[in-house]
Amino acid sequence: MKKLFVTNIGLLAGVGQDGKRSLKGEEMARLDMIANAYLTIANGRFADYGEMADCPAPTDDVRVVDAKGAAVLPSWCDSHTHIVYADSREQEFVDKIRGLSYAEIAQRGGGILNSADRLHEMSEDELYRQAIRRVDEVIRKGTGCIEIKSGYGLNTADELKMLRVIRRIKETTRLKVVSTFLGAHAVSRAYKGRQGDYVDLVVKEMIPAVGAEKLADFIDVFCDTGFFTPEETARILEAGAVYGMRPKIHADELASSGGVEVGVQHHALSVDHLESMTEEEIDLLLNSRTMPTALPGTSFFLNMPFALGRKMIDRGLPLALASDYNPGSTPSGDMKFIVSLACIKMRLMPAEAINAATLNGACAMGLSDDYGSITRGKVANFFMTDPIPSVEFIPYAYTTPLIKRVFLQGIEYMSEEIQA
Ligand code: NIG
Ligand code: FE
Repeated sequence: MKKLFVTNIGLLAGVGQDGKRSLKGEEMARLDMIANAYLTIANGRFADYGEMADCPAPTDDVRVVDAKGAAVLPSWCDSHTHIVYADSREQEFVDKIRGLSYAEIAQRGGGILNSADRLHEMSEDELYRQAIRRVDEVIRKGTGCIEIKSGYGLNTADELKMLRVIRRIKETTRLKVVSTFLGAHAVSRAYKGRQGDYVDLVVKEMIPAVGAEKLADFIDVFCDTGFFTPEETARILEAGAVYGMRPKIHADELASSGGVEVGVQHHALSVDHLESMTEEEIDLLLNSRTMPTALPGTSFFLNMPFALGRKMIDRGLPLALASDYNPGSTPSGDMKFIVSLACIKMRLMPAEAINAATLNGACAMGLSDDYGSITRGKVANFFMTDPIPSVEFIPYAYTTPLIKRVFLQGIEYMSEEIQA
């Protein structure tokens, strides 16, 4: 593989972080940068970087890309998505405008159950075709690592169908993909009124089937009021642990409902959402290695409170940001917009938000040894923007499509390489 030299970089941001798996508290405000920089890549990994004045002369085996003053940043690491789903749900969007809440829509059999019905009818190929278009969209918007959940199957065959589509995305793109089994996303229609039996199905049938095919890296439960209790969550997480699936759970989206506690007790890699989190839960997280993850796109789209991101960082916690891309609560995987929302609505500083969406996102997927910063030896996933005056300009220009070129494993990404 040829070496790649990127020259004339106006601003190279997110460098260094050697040996750091995540950043917490005050550390999050530090985003190291070099103005007028070069970057070299060998064998798909970052090899070196520095000031342009010190750039080595390219040899014959080197491909040179002139950045022409562009900024270069590490790719976004989106640690929470539901990007594999069947069809959009804009009708519910209209219902929400008319005044129905997300919980009311779910109680009427809309929401997740609506997506499960559609997914059941759809072939695996069509599901892949729809998902890969969204994958192409988020790659072009700068995402280089992504977590994708199941959870619209709600029976064993359909959950496996979803997870096989996720595996196919892993195999057919250069995006780094990790997968999460979310059989306990909602009680299926077939089990209405029999939640205990549904939990049995998840534990006794779905988890062993997923485990046997090694289809999931992680396990998730929607632990919230009206969905699954902390006791049910604990049982499911323990069953997943037998197959090596580490927890990454939905907690405190609709209410403070014990999700953080059960997550911390089970050494969850992350607890996500946290819109209704309390001060006591911040204390619990301070004594843990669990990454709190905020999904501000969900708060924006559902008109709900935002997670206490500023407070978590001020109290010394780490924080990751993710999109939650899904058809119901967040039909967008635009991580640049997520970074803007975190600044505007959660009062994160731009550097904090960028760290939360890169290194800490990678950590929330167990990937920060290889992704999340421009560090010598890490996989060369990065993007190039239009020339910009400062890194703060990225969240400030909150709808400007600044991200122009994307590189995965040191090779420029072109949409044509994805077979839809
Ligand atoms: O993370 N909260 C649970 N699940 C998704 C939404 C799923 C849907 O509405 O389709 C979320 O917001
Ligand atoms: Fe989610």
